[in-house]
Amino acid sequence: MALTGLFLSLFLVIHLLGNFQLLLPEEQAKEQYNLYSNLLSNNPIIKLIAYVLYATILLHTIDAINLTIKAKKANGLSYVKDNRNRASKWYARQMMLLGTVVFAFLVIHFKDFWYPYKFGELPMDDNGNKDLYTLVMISFQELWYVILYAVAILGLGFHLLHGFFSAFRSLGVYHPKYNRIIKSVGVAFAVSMSIGYLIIPFYIYFNF
Ligand code: HEM
Repeated sequence: MALTGLFLSLFLVIHLLGNFQLLLPEEQAKEQYNLYSNLLSNNPIIKLIAYVLYATILLHTIDAINLTIKAKKANGLSYVKDNRNRASKWYARQMMLLGTVVFAFLVIHFKDFWYPYKFGELPMDDNGNKDLYTLVMISFQELWYVILYAVAILGLGFHLLHGFFSAFRSLGVYHPKYNRIIKSVGVAFAVSMSIGYLIIPFYIYFNF
């Protein structure tokens, strides 16, 4: 769970940096984003990493379902009086729900961007690359779609807020000396990923 989570976190950073190109001036963004996407999807090493990524998403999901079933069985009866807020934050107890939000988002995300790009008939740009840029721009013209992304990204942010620290603890990095620093890095990571991913749909909605 921890290793797959950290690998997915690394993907999030790279994916965000790639998508920041959408915020460049229009002509430059279009040319650069489409070229970048074309180079990535035709590079055999990146292709291999992409298959590892898909497998990691599935592994992380299956592991999460297993863990939740085990935890339910171990807990037995439900609490008479719910005092758990004293020991843990709500988002730490709702990791499965938050993960489900992210998974549902990914299904929509793959259907709207990934599938049309890999298997659809997208128009070409002036350089002969599939025009993924325009597809993304058009999608974020709709307010409901921007809100859908915002909800999913907030879900992801809270998932990371607990997940990052929890991953290190699962890997055995749990010591009073390091806990505070790992927690702070985790908070910084969750906040910067959330803000970074939120900026993109809102920027496109308000500027195009
Ligand atoms: C809000 C800004 C985002 C934009 C504009 C965006 C855009 C895209 C686009 C255009 C693709 C299809 C082309 C490609 O495969 O590279 C894609 C793929 C993907 N996105 Fe996003 N994305 C965003 C956020 C996210 C988030 C928050 C996640 C994770 C929770 C995510 C996970 C993925 C994954 C796993 C793929 C497939 C990558 C691959 O096949 O190599 N994306 N994204």
